[in-house]
Amino acid sequence: MVPVILSGGAGTRLWPMSRQHYPKQFLPLTGQGQTMLQATLERLPKDTALVAPVVVCNEAHRFLVAEQLRQTGVDPCQIILEPVGRNTAPAVALAALEQTASGGDPVMVVMPADHLVADVEAFQKALDEAVSLAEDGDLVTFGVVPTEPHTGYGYILADHVKDRSGAPVKAFVEKPDRSTAEDYLASGDYYWNSGMFVFRASAYLEELEQHAPDILEACRRAMEGTQADLDFLRVDREAFAACRSESIDYAVMEKTRRAVMVPLDAGWSDVGSWESLWSVGKQNGDGNVAVGDVMTVGARNCYVHGSHRLVAAVGVEDLIVVETSDAVLVMHKDRSQDVKEVVARLKADG
Ligand code: GDD
Ligand code: MG
Repeated sequence: MVPVILSGGAGTRLWPMSRQHYPKQFLPLTGQGQTMLQATLERLPKDTALVAPVVVCNEAHRFLVAEQLRQTGVDPCQIILEPVGRNTAPAVALAALEQTASGGDPVMVVMPADHLVADVEAFQKALDEAVSLAEDGDLVTFGVVPTEPHTGYGYILADHVKDRSGAPVKAFVEKPDRSTAEDYLASGDYYWNSGMFVFRASAYLEELEQHAPDILEACRRAMEGTQADLDFLRVDREAFAACRSESIDYAVMEKTRRAVMVPLDAGWSDVGSWESLWSVGKQNGDGNVAVGDVMTVGARNCYVHGSHRLVAAVGVEDLIVVETSDAVLVMHKDRSQDVKEVVARLKADG
């Protein structure tokens, strides 16, 4: 199998740590030393024959990626550079086209570079199952039991079949509205899509051809104009820029009839916001998560992150405080999704 790491996101909800030139996947956000990209690679089984991983990222981040892979001892690797972000359907297509270019057809394990998995052993077990299903031509997703009506996730309704480890997907609904998500949660029949996928390169390309042929065509053209540059593969700028921007979930997973779900119970989380970092973080008796040089006095349920200075939080509740060298965020925990607004305004102000 070939790991394909998607590392092109912007991570705007984790401002001010996550910046355009240094997005969250390149940061050691969980306080464990490794960056999220490095943790993603380390989560893969060491004893399976791992071929060089493929990382698909924006060209602006190429040296960050190369350096972080080198630190993790990953060598060789293939780094595909996108001149512009076109979301995940094209990013995965580039990797699949690259893998099949020389006649191969490996099982690709597509992993976002910004997730947390607490139980690596359970993850690897699920991955094993997924790889064997994918070898037979299925497009495998991982289903996580939902705990809230989150509208930022895809939802999977799967058909459990006896004597088969993967459950055929009956419905895949990407990012439903709130009331639909509430219905799904109440029904108990739906899983969250984890955003990781396992399939043969050819299976993905066939489904893309059927459900989003324009994306496949644009990516083919972009790959034809590829230039090799050290470890990097630069795809053709104009051809790729002309591609429609679409996620793999909308372009393929909602439509394909070849999807199969493997349940995942491995402490998975998508670290999308400061609130999620608080909930997966090491909380002290008062429910505070402190990262860096931090002092709390009578504070409760806060996430406090000091990078350059001592940060003291006194008598406050449910706050997120993030200090960096040039910006400080102070926010109510319930407003975690709204950090995007700050980034949007900063962009608009140039
Ligand atoms: N190379 C590349 N290029 N990577 C990208 C691009 C791009 O243009 N856009 C996003 N990515 C990367 C992100 O860095 C992230 O690692 C991954 O692809 C998924 O993108 P997100 O933007 O984080 O997707 P999402 O969280 O909204 O939704 C997906 O993940 C959810 C679980 O976390 C979907 O698959 C949902 O169905 C799923 O529930
Ligand atoms: Mg995400």
